[in-house]
Amino acid sequence: MQGQSATGAGPRTGAWQAAHDRSLKDPAGFWGEAAAAIDWSRPWNKVLEDSTAPSYRWFSGAELNTCHNAVDRHVAQGRGDQAAIIHDSPVTGRVTSISYAELQDRVARFAGALQDLGVAKGDRVIVYMPMVPEAAIAMLACARIGAVHSVVFGGFSARELATRIDDAKPKVVVAGSCGIEPSRIVPYKPLLDDAIAQARHQPEHCVIFQREQQPAELLPGRDLDWQEITAAASPADCVPVAATDPLYILYTSGTTGQPKGVVRDNGGHAVAMTWSMRHVYGVEPGEVFWSASDVGWVVGHSYIVYAPLLHGCTTVLYEGKPVGTPDAGAFWRVIEQHRVAVLFTAPTAFRAIKRDDPDAEHLGRYDTSSLRALFLAGERCDPSTLDWAGEILGVPVVDHWWQTETGWAIAANCLGLEPLPIKSGSPTKPVPGYDVQVLGDDSVPVAPGNIGRIMIRLPLPPGCLPTLWGNDERFRASYLAAEPGFYLSGDAGYMDEDGYLFVMSRIDDIINVAGHRLSTGGMEAVLAAHPDVAECAVVGVADQLKGELPLGLVVLKTGVDRPKADIARELVAKVRDEIGPVAAFKTVLVVPRLPKTRSGKILRGTMKHIAEGTEYRMPATIDDPAILEEIQEALVAAGYARAG
Ligand code: COA
Ligand code: AMP
Repeated sequence: MQGQSATGAGPRTGAWQAAHDRSLKDPAGFWGEAAAAIDWSRPWNKVLEDSTAPSYRWFSGAELNTCHNAVDRHVAQGRGDQAAIIHDSPVTGRVTSISYAELQDRVARFAGALQDLGVAKGDRVIVYMPMVPEAAIAMLACARIGAVHSVVFGGFSARELATRIDDAKPKVVVAGSCGIEPSRIVPYKPLLDDAIAQARHQPEHCVIFQREQQPAELLPGRDLDWQEITAAASPADCVPVAATDPLYILYTSGTTGQPKGVVRDNGGHAVAMTWSMRHVYGVEPGEVFWSASDVGWVVGHSYIVYAPLLHGCTTVLYEGKPVGTPDAGAFWRVIEQHRVAVLFTAPTAFRAIKRDDPDAEHLGRYDTSSLRALFLAGERCDPSTLDWAGEILGVPVVDHWWQTETGWAIAANCLGLEPLPIKSGSPTKPVPGYDVQVLGDDSVPVAPGNIGRIMIRLPLPPGCLPTLWGNDERFRASYLAAEPGFYLSGDAGYMDEDGYLFVMSRIDDIINVAGHRLSTGGMEAVLAAHPDVAECAVVGVADQLKGELPLGLVVLKTGVDRPKADIARELVAKVRDEIGPVAAFKTVLVVPRLPKTRSGKILRGTMKHIAEGTEYRMPATIDDPAILEEIQEALVAAGYARAG
């Protein structure tokens, strides 16, 4: 497997090093050349605007339209008949294909419908949709008219949606009537109505895409039917926007209950997405790229919608799960049926397949010979999952590291540039454009092999966030204030002697549940608001399937004598209701006291170790070590820690 080429062209020794060196020494030259792959309606004044450092902007002065680049130009260049989107939906039993020409027509018409509702350049549109092509069509339609979309994942609660409505202040919300989970239909419309009732900002209209599985009742005046308004609309043309104008806002968990609105620009994003398809993933236009994620996450934005389409690929939009729709052979069936060249998913998906089919017996039923590589991201990839995937598939398995903020890989094995030997547990080396440094608490780079904070020297390459929506101050405080001249990734890890990066853990209270990024602080805020709770802590505990699962520990107010099991049930329901099922918050333990330092800081890390049954050092600053014994007892009784 080592050193295999994904493109068939064979390894080009030294290509990664040369590209990486050049991208840091001459970023303007490097990205200026990459930008030739994009159609611009006006050229830039400067590739990299650095006069405003530490705020940087890419391609200032230039104009383009992202939808033109993702759709129209491919039709103009002869790809009209090629499939742009394949919607493969085992939960409805349907597979449909949309050609580039059809996509152009449908996007232009929906863009026209949005314009008829008064949506114009710079207006925000929230998209709350299941995995249907209309989700991508809505995103591209916004891009077409210069509106800024903000997609909200369907597994979030009404309250989370309300928070995003209040922050983004959308003119219009576009929603599906329902989502379809294997076990149930999730009606989206009541959640939307509830969110609008909770929000201070009121959108002028909601456009509802009715699904036959559960159509929604429309509120006259406010709600409009997708099909009706689209049928009545004229196609809209692409509106040129500044390269530095926002394309979308994507909310992601921060360390508080208030999510961060990550902003993506148009120009840098289009350049980075396109460059990454060939150089990171080793994919050519016309090939089939499948990212098994959800449009509500950054992976879905970048690698279900924008990058494959910008590069002229066919993208698979999969409405199903790795297991249970109908079985652990689902991924192999999709690869065979659509001749997928490269698959991208989260390690948790492979853990689920391995759990259900450890000998990969389903694989024998399918021809997966089209597959050249598997890319994994979204959470730390345990070496055993990576090795298992490589063994059964017989293709390079690439762990790569990135975040909502960057929008594309910070460290990866760039198969299209130079496949490097794989080291399990490492996402390989920094991608060109990223100057990754591991710094100690003394602000000095640590020696190879030593853990520190993973930072990226500014400027970040094109495609990364220029700011947070409406909150430059939070952007600076969260990412730029820790070390002058650096971006704080929030991850800790180390680099080995060969320059391979190892990303080990977060340095904040963010956890990763089945590749979904969640804030334990946000969950604690929900628990703390329960009238019987005096104090609480939520920790992420290692889980064989989902990577991590949240565990709540609560102390009740003095005098509360209701059954603990009732309170625990209420707390679980409250987190599901206020954050969403995606939090997978299922366990809460009532404990007499929480362990703290003498200054009153709750020792969450120590409790995590106890719950996982891993070694820990007694914190020197602990106030009362006896509390740890109580916690250990409670955890053992709940089936967590090993006794003793
Ligand atoms: N709308 C409504 N509810 C949703 C939802 C959506 N779009 N997506 C998930 N949920 C619900 C699920 O039904 C589940 O609810 P439940 O508690 O009633 O069972 C809950 O949210 C948790 O969902 P999920 O994390 O998907 O867990 P799961 O047990 O259903 O499936 C995996 C586990 C591993 C199969 C699944 O997480 C998976 O396929 N992961 C692939 C990786 C991925 O998509 N990562 C995203 C970033 S790359
Ligand atoms: P998200 O913003 O949802 O993409 O989550 C980003 C976070 O997920 C990162 O900051 C990491 O903590 C974690 N993560 C993503 N990919 C990897 C990876 N390949 N290895 C380790 N951690 C990862």
